[in-house]
Amino acid sequence: MTEEEKAVADSLGKKGFVAIEKILEGKHTGDEVKIRGWIHRTRDIGNMAFLNVRDPSGIVQATFSKDDMDEDKFEEVKDLLVESSLKVKGEVAEDERAPGGYELRVTDVEIVHASEDFPIHKDQSVEHLLDNRHLWIRSTEMRDILNVRSTVFGAIHEFFRKEGYKEFQSPILTPLACEGGATLFPVEYFDDHVYLTQSWQLYAEAGIFGTGDIYTIAPSFRAEKSRTPRHLTEYWHAEVEGLWHDLDDIIELGEGLVLHIVDRVLEENEEELERLEVDLDYLKGLEAPFPIITYEEAVSKLQEEGIDVTYGEDFGVPEEKKLTSLFDKPVFVTHYPKEIKAFYMKRAGEDDTKVLGYDLMVPHVGELIGGSVRETDVDSMIRRLEEGGEDPSIYDWFLDTRRYGSVPHAGYGLGIERVIMWLCDLDHIRDAIPFPRTPNRYRP
Ligand code: 4AD
Ligand code: MG
Repeated sequence: MTEEEKAVADSLGKKGFVAIEKILEGKHTGDEVKIRGWIHRTRDIGNMAFLNVRDPSGIVQATFSKDDMDEDKFEEVKDLLVESSLKVKGEVAEDERAPGGYELRVTDVEIVHASEDFPIHKDQSVEHLLDNRHLWIRSTEMRDILNVRSTVFGAIHEFFRKEGYKEFQSPILTPLACEGGATLFPVEYFDDHVYLTQSWQLYAEAGIFGTGDIYTIAPSFRAEKSRTPRHLTEYWHAEVEGLWHDLDDIIELGEGLVLHIVDRVLEENEEELERLEVDLDYLKGLEAPFPIITYEEAVSKLQEEGIDVTYGEDFGVPEEKKLTSLFDKPVFVTHYPKEIKAFYMKRAGEDDTKVLGYDLMVPHVGELIGGSVRETDVDSMIRRLEEGGEDPSIYDWFLDTRRYGSVPHAGYGLGIERVIMWLCDLDHIRDAIPFPRTPNRYRP
């Protein structure tokens, strides 16, 4: 290190860097401060260079004047490419011409790394951005969505813990098909094979006997070949299983969770939501209770609206879109015909053709939560498995939960990326997760 470099290193030493958002909040006007980050945009005119510097909290303009600094250094700074990393010291001044209304009048700079030509420019194709996802996640748009995502994860933990649910983990590698054989990912397991888990549920149903009410946040895997804007092959799943819970309990618990997530995101991420052009009034206006209708009522409503749907069919995108447009809040649809729901769902006592379960639907996304009361009788459960073409012997350990002190219980699963897609009004679920996995994409 030369003496000069040492002096710069001292003045730009480790301590005392401020977050750019604090500058933009006017907390440092008139002060000399240090920031560190990346060049977002560059512009120079004659003896002046204007670098917009980004850190994880915001972007501020740093103004370099040739007259106020070493000439070689000035030329070096002027030649820097976008995404170069640097530390800058300067005086904060209000300037309405600068983006965000503040600028840093630079007195010292340390170039940490001069970037190569960044492969992402304006107006590039979705495919190019997906190929360069590891770089695209630096964008303001992705940063905003991922900030919301972080709040959502925190809010889920907070809600369940506040309500007295304990966190419980299930294996990712499993021999069982919780949600049917059609969407399983097989994994070689030495001389055998297992699957990537579709759901935590079956293990949770064993867990409640010792631990009581439990929840998890974990990845689930679905080999869904359907390329829809709301399906990932790997997604994050918030699941809950409650002892002695019935349908009303899990409806209340689903509504409570969704409203808590909305509240926390409005508290933490209003700026992000504004930049994402989300309808804040819709989110702010949400309150309990959400409407509850049966599948049968939903079919009638859709038919009245001229949608061609017959009783017994599962809803697709057009049906869910229409249905959710008829309500100004998320809507619970209950009592689906047993044929279109999973084997573990308890039959409605008064009508054996329907199950005690629900889907919570929201506009634009469709199903956000799937939940049900669980079948507790071992013989009925074995029959359901056989009807579904499954070999009950593979489920033998699971059936023990119906052999040794079987108890009423219920639970649900919420797709976290679907919640983010809904909250951030995203066109495609892949933008709700940093590194999406879809049928034709598993890189980077
Ligand atoms: O409705 P699903 O398949 O239900 C279950 O897995 C139950 N075992 C949950 C439980 O009761 N513990 O999935 C639950 C939720 C759906 O409502 C949806 O939000 C989300 O998981 N989901 C997906 N999200 C993204 N991509 C996919 N391929 C998804 N499949 C389901
Ligand atoms: Mg479902």
